[in-house]
Amino acid sequence: MNILITGCNGQLGTELQKIALNDQHHQWLFTDIDTLDICNKTAVEECFVKNGIDACINCAAYTAVDKAEDEPELATLVNSFAPKVLAEACKNHDALLIHISTDYVFGGDAHEPYKVDDPINPQSVYGSTKAEGERLIRESGCNYMIVRTAWLYSSVGKNFVKTMLMLGETKEGINVVADQRGCPTWAHDLAFALVALLDKNGKNEIHETFHFTNEGQITWHDFATAIMEIGGKQCKVNPITTEQYPTKAKRPAYSVLDLSKIKEFAGIEIPDWRKSLEQCIDELKWMASLRSQ
Ligand SMILES: NC(=O)c1ccc[n+]([C@@H]2O[C@H](COP(=O)([O-])OP(=O)(O)OC[C@H]3O[C@@H](n4cnc5c(N)ncnc54)[C@H](OP(=O)(O)O)[C@@H]3O)[C@@H](O)[C@H]2O)c1
Repeated sequence: MNILITGCNGQLGTELQKIALNDQHHQWLFTDIDTLDICNKTAVEECFVKNGIDACINCAAYTAVDKAEDEPELATLVNSFAPKVLAEACKNHDALLIHISTDYVFGGDAHEPYKVDDPINPQSVYGSTKAEGERLIRESGCNYMIVRTAWLYSSVGKNFVKTMLMLGETKEGINVVADQRGCPTWAHDLAFALVALLDKNGKNEIHETFHFTNEGQITWHDFATAIMEIGGKQCKVNPITTEQYPTKAKRPAYSVLDLSKIKEFAGIEIPDWRKSLEQCIDELKWMASLRSQ
């Protein structure tokens, strides 16, 4: 299959680039905003025609959750309008769209993991624009898999793990919210799950939504504590409430996702969050050791 990756320089796109290095089965075309702006309908259509695209994994998004509150137009363009552009191109060319969405489409008042068909109720501009992107894909009539994920981190870009490790270098103590519960996702694991989904389905007709995170559920405070422990930082992590740490965008208090559908469909086992965190921190240490040589 000819697979188009959009937003390839982000956390998830970078992990897919690593997979492609050792993959003999597919032809991969990696693009980011400088080579393919997914908001540009003409450019997207040309790309599909020129490269005979069979599947597109859309890793491109407007992901700055708080900034989106001040830039709703741009967030809408990238998270709602552009997925529609990709969906229409996929429909025109009989290609599969794998689109990534978020736990922030949910309201956060649940007490057990959200199933894929549970009602959504986004609390932020980011969440609303991602929910609208999902809706427009479903309406387009293209073959799609929408994969909602959460709390994504990797060894590249900006993310919670890298921020905590950096703070752990200089601070004796930090305050982290202990009343928001979810599950982290190592972008490496998500990338492998997406390829498993793609290989399982091939070019068959499909219109499905899935959830993927690592296994388990924790608070941001638990996550920060584990990062400091595994990263060997002496920094103390103090629990605080969401009220004590106001942010521009409202986050769901509870956004654990039910993973049963993806495990059954793709036949995958999902690593526990702490095991994956250990591997990512090992990778970061290895990268730091290379830089210091
Ligand atoms: N990060 C999380 O915690 C999280 C949680 C749940 C779901 N997700 C979803 O997971 C997916 C992957 O997230 P990620 O963390 O890998 O994102 P990321 O690191 O922010 O990467 C997104 C990439 O898309 C690019 N991009 C932005 N606008 C574009 C456009 N118009 N055309 C083409 N490329 C464009 C970005 O370029 P610039 O850097 O130049 O803008 C960046 O390289 C997204 O759909 C996101 O909504 C993320």
